[in-house]
This record gives sequence, structure tokens and C-alpha cells, in this order.
Amino acid sequence: MKLKTKTVEVDLDRIKEDVRKAKDEIVTDIRVIRERDPAATSDLEVALLYSGFHAVLFYRVSHMLYEKKKFFAARLISQSARFLTGIEIHPGAKIGRGLFIDHGSGVVIGETAEIGDNCTLYQGVTLGGTGKHVGKRHPTLGNNVMVGSGAKVLGPFKIGDNSKIAANAVVLDEIPDNCTAVGIPARVVRRNNQKVDCDLDQIHIADPVAQEFCKMNLKIEALERELDELKKERKKENKE
Ligand SMILES: CC(C)(COP(=O)(O)OP(=O)(O)OC[C@H]1O[C@@H](n2cnc3c(N)ncnc32)[C@H](O)[C@@H]1OP(=O)(O)O)[C@@H](O)C(=O)NCCC(=O)NCCS
Repeated sequence: MKLKTKTVEVDLDRIKEDVRKAKDEIVTDIRVIRERDPAATSDLEVALLYSGFHAVLFYRVSHMLYEKKKFFAARLISQSARFLTGIEIHPGAKIGRGLFIDHGSGVVIGETAEIGDNCTLYQGVTLGGTGKHVGKRHPTLGNNVMVGSGAKVLGPFKIGDNSKIAANAVVLDEIPDNCTAVGIPARVVRRNNQKVDCDLDQIHIADPVAQEFCKMNLKIEALERELDELKKERKKENKE
């Protein structure tokens, strides 16, 4: 149904659809927090007291404005949200359903970051750029990804579905599906629930300089043997 006033045409069906969608997203956001945080005791508590929930709510409004190219209003809302929650989500980021930002403070999600469905981020997480890329410069998280507190995921690559990034890891490269990545720079230590053996013995590692000396010694010995044989042949010839 369309109402036409003197100045504006209002598409009531579209507004109803937008409101239904927003309500659906809010209900999902509250439900996932109740499911994933054992400390959450009621929907009301989540709605009123969870800054991660507030940040996602503000994001959904700012993203809607961003899509309508109302960039200033979008940034105004996201920066106000940052002031209130300590969580900075750029309105241009693309975020799926069921994102849970636990505790929240210090979380930064960049403009070209993409987040799939049912992801969890803890406090201090950065989904950022390295400063070396233009265009798409922030990471893409698949579905059901968990990023631990303080972890930094930097660059335009993908973190696969169901993967976990350990607290304080710094991820600079793609992580496949169903993996756990830890450390700086992050390396995969578990894949499909199996331990990945990538231990490097830093103490008993071969010394490259000693290896070069060893090669040179072998060459000198071979040359000395050849020289001895030549000398012997020369002596024989002289006698004859
Ligand atoms: C990584 C994590 C998700 C566990 O994943 P997992 O697949 O169950 O992995 P495991 O616990 O089996 O650990 C695998 C290896 O990584 C190591 N590891 C785990 N977390 C690590 C971390 N943050 N930094 C470095 N190494 C870590 C483990 O010691 C283990 O090493 P080992 O194989 O030599 O014994 C979990 O340790 C983690 O970091 N969670 C973040 C939660 C968080 O941020 N909470 C904040 C709440 S306020």
C-alpha cells in the first residue's frame, strides 16, 4: 500500500517489512546472548545491561543509513555508540545474524570487515587492516567463528567457518575452516579437532654457517684427493 501526501510518497508495506526484520534481528541478538553467556539471567537484563547488544543495535541503524548513503548520520551514530559502549563498529561493515560481543570494551570492527552468522568476539578484538591494502582491507569471518580477547585479525583474508582465534593471537593470514589458531603470528594448532604438529625445535636447529663450512671442508678434501692422484700420475710419468 502506498500513501501519497503533498510532498512525500510513503511505502507502508516496505516500512512494515523493515520493522518486522529489525524486530526479528533484535530477538535473535538477545537469544544468542542468553545461549552463549551463562551469566545472562533474563532477556530484560540483556536488553538493558549488555553493551555488546547495544553496540550491535546501534550498528544495525548506522548500517541502514550507510546503505542509503547517509554517511555523516551513519558515522554520527557509530561514534556515539563507541562513546557509550567502548565498541567501534564502522557502519560499512557487513555483519550477519547472532553476533555476540562479550564484555565489549576496546572492540574495533573496520569498514570492509565482514562477519558471518553466530560469531562471538571478546573484549579488545580488532578486525582491522595492516595499512598495506586499499579497497577491501579488513578480514572476513565465516559462520560460528570465535575471536578471543585481545586478538588482532589484520588484513583482507578469511577466517573459515567454526574456527577459533585464541586470546591475544595476531592473525596475519587466512585460517581454514574448523581450526584453532594461537600465538603471534598466529599458527594453526588444531584442525578438525586433531592436534596439528608444527613444533619447531628452536634450540637444536642446524646452524646454517656451520653447514656451509662443512660443505666447504668436503669440497677441499675432494680437491686434495684429486691433487694427490695427479701428483702420483706425474711422478709415474717422470720415472718412465
Ligand atoms: C584457543 C581456545 C579457544 C581453545 O581452543 P581449543 O581448540 O580448545 O584448543 P586447546 O585448548 O586444545 O589448545 C590448543 C593449544 O593451544 C594452546 N593455547 C590455547 N590458548 C592459547 C592462547 N590464548 N595463546 C597461546 N596458546 C594457547 C594450548 O596451550 C594448547 O597447546 P598444546 O597443544 O601445546 O597443549 C582458548 O584457549 C582461548 O584462547 N579462548 C579465548 C576465550 C576468551 O578470550 N575468553 C575471554 C573471556 S573474558
